[in-house]
Amino acid sequence: MDDLIFLGIESSCDDTAAAIVTGDRRILSSVVSSQTDLHADFGGIVPEIAARAHAEKLDLMVEEALDLADIGLGDLDAIAVTAGPGLIGGVMAGVMCAKGIAAGTGLPLIGVNHLAGHALTPRLTDGIDFPYVMLLVSGGHCQFLRVDDAQTFTRLGGTIDDAPGEAFDKLAKLLALPQPGGPSVEAEAALGDGERFHLPRPLLDRAGCDMSFSGLKTAALRLRDKLIEEQGGLRQQDRRDLCAAFQLAVAEVLAEKSRRALSQSPVPILAVAGGVAANKTIRAALEQVAHSAEAEFLAPPLRLCTDNGAMIAWAGIERFRLGHRDGMDLVARPRWPL
Ligand code: KG4
Ligand code: ZN
Repeated sequence: MDDLIFLGIESSCDDTAAAIVTGDRRILSSVVSSQTDLHADFGGIVPEIAARAHAEKLDLMVEEALDLADIGLGDLDAIAVTAGPGLIGGVMAGVMCAKGIAAGTGLPLIGVNHLAGHALTPRLTDGIDFPYVMLLVSGGHCQFLRVDDAQTFTRLGGTIDDAPGEAFDKLAKLLALPQPGGPSVEAEAALGDGERFHLPRPLLDRAGCDMSFSGLKTAALRLRDKLIEEQGGLRQQDRRDLCAAFQLAVAEVLAEKSRRALSQSPVPILAVAGGVAANKTIRAALEQVAHSAEAEFLAPPLRLCTDNGAMIAWAGIERFRLGHRDGMDLVARPRWPL
């Protein structure tokens, strides 16, 4: 089944993506159209705008993915599509697009769980074997998954409120830094002193792998307001130190919880995915934890860590190999726990 060629379609959040992937792990093409600009004025993703943009872009992205791979619909073996979880309008747009292609070509249709797409990515990028632990850490997700096979995912813990990326974005907003917040907070933090302020490490005192990041954001807000009140404004160095303290707190929480995930579930590999995995301080902290647990640390390239169609095509291939097929009754699901 190495010669399989799959189309993958992703539209569950604010990226419209399509990709062509083969059974022997080659990504023939992967295109992503981001909606960041469309939502910029609203301070968050507007589901209705997202759904419309997906509906307008999906067929174009599929066409582009096929063109770049230099193949036609007739060369495909199946179509994989994100069927949830996510913003329902976008997921429906993707599922309808996939059903249309499946109906027109007679090709098999495979519904993929978006989180399974992220969780199986290290098998696409690095060809690793099961089992492994995956920390999925982005603007929308934050959870530890133990992956035992392509359909057995055990959630070891996760955030009970905000995802870290969301917290980075909110901090950036508080400090009037550009969005997305993660990269701008990281750039400020690089010039700051993480030890000047101490921010809380929520839930570190509680056993297990659950995390919380909303209190951290509230503590940063109070500190900002206190500085403004005392000094009549926020100095550049205050902003930098606050970013460094925040980044350090997130890194320490993620590192300690990763350490627990690995001791609770000893596996040879700790993999990370999601936009926050791009943060160098966080990455270094996780790498150190993995090495102390004698595990390999693996972070797929960023373009495959964030939302993309290749991970959906690959997860589709894995499901297909297990004999899974969906029909025209495939439903789009806003919630779909792994
Ligand atoms: O995986 P992703 O592209 O999208 C979803 O959440 O679906 O992740 C985006 C998130 C944003 O919240 C962004 O601020 C955060 O990842 N991010 C970072 C960094 N780069 C992106 N957070 C911390 N440090 C970074 N360097
Ligand atoms: Zn995602």
